[in-house]
Amino acid sequence: MTAVLSTADSLVAKAQDRSAVIGIVGLGYVGLPLAVEFGRAGFRVLGFDVSAGVVDVLNQGRSHVQDVSSPEVAALVKAGKFAATKDLARLREPDVVSICVPTPLSKTKDPDVSYVLAATNSVKQSLRRGQLIVLESTTYPGTTRELMLPALEGTGLKVGEDFFLAFSPERVDPGNPKWNTHNTPKVVGGITEACRRVAMAVYEPAIERLVPVSSTEAAELVKILENTFRSVNIGLVNEMAIVCDKLGVDVWEVIEAAATKPFGFMKFTPGPGVGGHCIPLDPHYLAWKMRTLNYRTRFIELAGEINAEMPEYWVGRVVDRLNEQGRATRGSKVLVVGVAYKKDIDDIRESPALDVIRLLQRRGASVSYHDPHVRRLRDEDIDLASVPLNSETLAAADCVVIVTDHSDIDYALVERCARVVVDTRNALAKARRHGEEQ
Ligand SMILES: NC(=O)c1ccc[n+]([C@@H]2O[C@H](COP(=O)([O-])OP(=O)(O)OC[C@H]3O[C@@H](n4cnc5c(N)ncnc54)[C@H](O)[C@@H]3O)[C@@H](O)[C@H]2O)c1
Repeated sequence: MTAVLSTADSLVAKAQDRSAVIGIVGLGYVGLPLAVEFGRAGFRVLGFDVSAGVVDVLNQGRSHVQDVSSPEVAALVKAGKFAATKDLARLREPDVVSICVPTPLSKTKDPDVSYVLAATNSVKQSLRRGQLIVLESTTYPGTTRELMLPALEGTGLKVGEDFFLAFSPERVDPGNPKWNTHNTPKVVGGITEACRRVAMAVYEPAIERLVPVSSTEAAELVKILENTFRSVNIGLVNEMAIVCDKLGVDVWEVIEAAATKPFGFMKFTPGPGVGGHCIPLDPHYLAWKMRTLNYRTRFIELAGEINAEMPEYWVGRVVDRLNEQGRATRGSKVLVVGVAYKKDIDDIRESPALDVIRLLQRRGASVSYHDPHVRRLRDEDIDLASVPLNSETLAAADCVVIVTDHSDIDYALVERCARVVVDTRNALAKARRHGEEQ
């Protein structure tokens, strides 16, 4: 019993005096901001990534993630607080290992936990007494206990006594100017009470507010509930946009007016569909898990269907607008404005713009795009370079489609020079209103 307390207590003490070394596995959109937070809090951080490019760039003091600036990385590297490595055998060095690897879907929309398994296997190779392992990647409830725990205990070490295992979902919202890794409350669930206590002590110096929950399953489910909540509500307003279109009512006027209700309503906005690494993917993790238990998650499936159909809906609107001008889609020039999956970021993963472009190209349109954050768009069969947004490029297009409402687009210019605009985000009206308020 004394030994149990001493292993946990010694890690807690190391967290409190910042002598604990933090390892971050996977230095992407989630892992790098977390590494920087730990560095800022005074810890020495060792970052691990399988990509030599990522490791080299970071060790040169440059950032490849938009939310983290290169000077921040450079300062931490210079101060000896951060280094990156490809050498996973060095996982024995850190006292804490936080796993932030991708959790994509397979082609059949089943969870692809191969990255989590690979990272777990690397941790297992060098697991030692006194280490805390935390999974941050979004995944289905049960992953930490069912996949990671047996592998790690396969070393002969005992969880909660020799080593500690927890799940703490990352909630980073790339491009959000207000909420970041540091000030967004962080949920923590442990396999045992000691695991949670140690994990709380480790995150406490780096994160403003921690929210303990009773198990890793609860923590895993919190993240999926949050993203399913968004997916379902976005699906609902997307359906409302189609309903309003059919009724000849302005959906944006309806949403703005509904949002004046001071209670019981939360504003979500329609658009071209959902993108990014989270909302289109995470609910499928839960749906899959529930299928294994013979339960069909109907809300998740319906919202996913509606959101996935939105690019087709908006392309239908483009076809209609071209038709009104007496033009066939085949041979028409369509300029897509904004291709990132959401405003003011450079991430194109799962972006609905990719579907919009493909669907237009399939109908024979000649598609170009402008995005101040994405200079080159490469995804499977798409390879395009961003064109400038000026009076010539706008006037040359038979139709302009606003897919992503980046802040630094001159919407007044779009309105002045484009022949026809299909605006999936109501960006023109918002910019007009903003201009009037100035
Ligand atoms: N991007 C977001 O906005 C966001 C927000 C919250 C949660 N998440 C979740 O966080 C997790 C990571 O997402 P991300 O956006 O940071 O992914 P990412 O692709 O930006 O970064 C993942 C990094 O992990 C590296 N990697 C892959 N396998 C590895 C291994 N075995 N060992 C070491 N490094 C490895 C990759 O090279 C890559 O650099 C996912 O589960 C995602 O769902 C993402």
